Amino acid sequence: MANNAFSSKVGLIMAAAGSAVGLGNIWKFPYVAGENGGGAFLLVYLACVVALGLPMVATEFLIGQRSRHSAFGAFRQLNGNNRWQWLSWMCLTTSVLIMGFYFVVTGWCFNYLAEAVVNTFHAMSTDQLTAHFNGFIHSDLRMMLFSLVPIVLTAAVLWFDVNKGIEQLSKILMPLLLVMMILMVIRVLMLDNSMQGLRFFFHPDFSKITPNVILEAMGQCFFSLSIGMGALITYGAYMPPKQRVVYTSVQVAVLDTLVAVLAGVIIFPAVFSFGFNPEEGPKLAFIVLPAILEQMSLPWFSSVLFFSLLCIAALTSTISLMEVSVAYMVEVSEHWAKKNPRIKPLNRHKSVLLVAVVTIAITSLCVLSMTDAREWLSFGGHNLFDLLDDITSCYLMPLGALGMSIFVAWKMPLEGENGLTQNAKGLHRWVCIIYQQMIRWIIPIVIVVIFLYGLDIL
Ligand code: TRP
Repeated sequence: MANNAFSSKVGLIMAAAGSAVGLGNIWKFPYVAGENGGGAFLLVYLACVVALGLPMVATEFLIGQRSRHSAFGAFRQLNGNNRWQWLSWMCLTTSVLIMGFYFVVTGWCFNYLAEAVVNTFHAMSTDQLTAHFNGFIHSDLRMMLFSLVPIVLTAAVLWFDVNKGIEQLSKILMPLLLVMMILMVIRVLMLDNSMQGLRFFFHPDFSKITPNVILEAMGQCFFSLSIGMGALITYGAYMPPKQRVVYTSVQVAVLDTLVAVLAGVIIFPAVFSFGFNPEEGPKLAFIVLPAILEQMSLPWFSSVLFFSLLCIAALTSTISLMEVSVAYMVEVSEHWAKKNPRIKPLNRHKSVLLVAVVTIAITSLCVLSMTDAREWLSFGGHNLFDLLDDITSCYLMPLGALGMSIFVAWKMPLEGENGLTQNAKGLHRWVCIIYQQMIRWIIPIVIVVIFLYGLDIL
């Protein structure tokens, strides 16, 4: 249940944007775009944001706003029975699996911040930066320790309930991150060959658009906007009943996409100028960004500032990610305790501990799966880290989104107390009607078709 309302509309938008803007934009977007044809991917990605992402952000906000519950109670509250409860369990599973690999990458950011402080990247060549990263991901102990740092920090924020303070802080720091990124764009555009990178990123080669590229773009869109796992339902629960969901959704989607595109405009020109390969995969941002930061004026200061901001952007996402499971466990245990007096409900602190322990376990397995080819941690040639990344973005989040769109489209009427057009007049009423038709027909069909094509089933 919503236990603390947001002080203002801007506060809510900033909090939802803080959850959306994270490693998905700066680490994942450039590497997935690089692997999937650059400009072709960008085009499909933008189409996904407009056609699927935006209506789905609105859908999750609506579920929260109308039910006043988080993912666990929302479906039961709106539907009056348990029939849609599987969807809420899926949200929980997705959030736990995402944490498993997200904290590993957040650990990389903290490691790079520490190394920037001691000036490790000074005068390193392209090859040295690549070798440096490969060396790092082959030392389990170091990676494990650095993943523990954000897990402990995130759990501490949730334990002491100081999320409000972090939100205040990120209201100042997120704009600073944007300014820093714009400065990096300017520097990167002055490099030799930068135009080649821009061409790669903005000039779509239509022959590269394959079903798999479309599936990847859809998954990336859902991941980046934090859709399909109930995170935005929780924010919706804090929204005043009169707040217009559509406008808030547009603002969050635009901000998130802007940061992703900026990350691409920083990374790709540098990739071509320094002679990196755009298809490097998950390591791309971590070998290219230090090289760019070394080219800035005040390189030490720039690197430390940038990696600090990156760590904070990642933390605002991990906080909201972990909150999904923590709130869920509290509500599940309360629900069970009501039915069975022998079960004691978990309080918030116990729930934070439980979730943190599970997260540490999965994160450690991911770390171990990367360092050496450990057979028991790899499946079909993919290690656990890649697998979790893939399963959540390409399967679980789209399936969650599919379920939620069907739920809202068919379970929430247009008119009446809980109706979609409640309070809506004029143009806004029309937006609601078009929106209902979209989530009734277009969105479910598009998700299913992309899914079946991407998996080679059609
Ligand atoms: N959107 C986040 C990012 O781009 C990652 C994310 C996915 C997330 N699902 C989430 C964050 C749920 C918070 C809550 O980095």
